[in-house]
Amino acid sequence: MSADTVDPDTGELAAAGLGLVVEDAVATVTLRRPERRNAMTPGMWRGLARVGEQIPDHVRVVVIRGEGPSFCAGIDLRMFTADGVPGEQRNPSPLDPGFDESIAGFQAGYTWLRNPAFVSVAAVQGHAIGAGFQLALACDLRVLADDAKLCMKEPALGLVPDLTGTKPLVEIVGLPRAIELCLTARTVGAQEAGQLRLAELVVPAGELDAAVADLTAALLSTDAAAARETKALLQQAAGNTLDQQAAAERQAQGRLLSASARR
Ligand code: CAA
Repeated sequence: MSADTVDPDTGELAAAGLGLVVEDAVATVTLRRPERRNAMTPGMWRGLARVGEQIPDHVRVVVIRGEGPSFCAGIDLRMFTADGVPGEQRNPSPLDPGFDESIAGFQAGYTWLRNPAFVSVAAVQGHAIGAGFQLALACDLRVLADDAKLCMKEPALGLVPDLTGTKPLVEIVGLPRAIELCLTARTVGAQEAGQLRLAELVVPAGELDAAVADLTAALLSTDAAAARETKALLQQAAGNTLDQQAAAERQAQGRLLSASARR
């Protein structure tokens, strides 16, 4: 079994409050700012995007977890103060010419988790607020500890959720419930999250790592190439007609069988 950190030389990820360990086919990304409940900064979002660029081709499962009592308390609220966060860029202003590009860069820290090359799993304990809830939503699957608390806090702070969370939220809970959750900014506990399908699994807090390890093992038990083609198929199903999806299935099967015939 080989274990390797992908960013061993520069420590840039560590400086951004991130850890990355790749062990065989599993990459584990850890938010490492527990003293601030893993509050996020632009540096952390850019670091996440860099992690996405560095995931080796052989990785089949990416686990996102947070160190300490909370998965992630959302944006570092010091970003909104006059002093800001030491060493970090200021919150982009819509008056800046690069406003749109700045936010697109932050969103890139989230969108890579949809790559069909692997399955992304959020392991959530304690609070997942705002940007943290959106990070859990950016993953394909969520495993929640029974102390998890999810909250889309942005509208309470005069913001919209802009880290790609609105689409998966609507897809998972439906439009009326998504409106209710966002526009009340209320906190959803783990049991309700399970009922709303915001969690594939809710487990006792002490069993979170073991449950994620079990799920990871199950995900690795299927054929790697078939898993990639199947995730890509499932991702496009909602936007396709039945005829389009049937055609996509035929094409995927053809690619898969041709590749295995060549091996
Ligand atoms: N930003 C900066 N610091 C934070 C933080 C945040 N979001 N969340 C927690 N911290 C810091 C606290 O200030 C505290 O620091 P000190 O020890 O120096 O006082 C430390 O982390 C521990 O926090 P608590 O003592 O509050 O810990 P707790 O376990 O009692 O509560 C919590 C945890 C419920 C997450 C609470 O800290 C909290 O409500 N945090 C703020 C959450 C929030 O409103 N986030 C913004 C969401 S909106 C968003 O994310 C916008 C976006 O997408 C762009």
